[in-house]
Amino acid sequence: MELLVNIDHVATLRNARGEGYPRPVEAARVCEEAGANGIVFHLRGDRRHILDQDVIELKETVKGTLDFEMAATDEMIGILIKTNPHLCTLVPEGREELTTEGGLNLELVFDDFKNRVFPAIKPSGIEISLFLDPNRKDIELAKELGADAIELHTGNYANAATKKEQQHELLRLREAAILAHQLGIKVNAGHGLNLQNLPTLIEVVPYLNEVSIGHALISQAVFWGLPKTVKSYIEILSLHDDLQ
Ligand code: PXP
Repeated sequence: MELLVNIDHVATLRNARGEGYPRPVEAARVCEEAGANGIVFHLRGDRRHILDQDVIELKETVKGTLDFEMAATDEMIGILIKTNPHLCTLVPEGREELTTEGGLNLELVFDDFKNRVFPAIKPSGIEISLFLDPNRKDIELAKELGADAIELHTGNYANAATKKEQQHELLRLREAAILAHQLGIKVNAGHGLNLQNLPTLIEVVPYLNEVSIGHALISQAVFWGLPKTVKSYIEILSLHDDLQ
């Protein structure tokens, strides 16, 4: 299972003072040197963390998988095609939200994705992943659209208030992963994952290809440094792979 590190919050820290550091591209280089399989960034419409220049530098520097997380606006699709990363993860984006708050409502956006978004991206060969809550209907619609992958939203699992709720969310994620796999869609996961909740997730949810982890990893790195923190996540993932 692969670790993709989301480096948005290195940009958040950089933008807090406008001094130009810490540089997201430097964080990406250190994460890859420590063994991360790739880097994720979310270029938001309001440019609150990652900036256009970061995207150019990340494209030039990242050697592993580069995952461009974005809302499906015409502006972002234009930048995506110019950047030509391996993967784009389409997410809903709200101006007031602190972070992405849930998966795409595919029933709502299906016609727009079918008629505008997919025809604009597909010819480029960039893989399309859809960020989804673990719902059967959304996964079936992702298949109908021809998505290459889905990223299961793990936020409800990560934020579950009780053991029972956590168990319920885990089972939903498990069923969703099995269904996506049966439909021939790659399964990724992300949001709210950390060193504590990752082991149980990967034990219970099968067929996970990549996990995308940002806030908890970058926060832990303040105390441990990025290399040690990245290696701790990789250790969890490799222990699991060894048992398969
Ligand atoms: N995956 C998606 C689609 C996201 O929007 C985010 C947050 O930017 C993440 C993964 C990473 O979440 P976190 O920062 O909570 O690890």
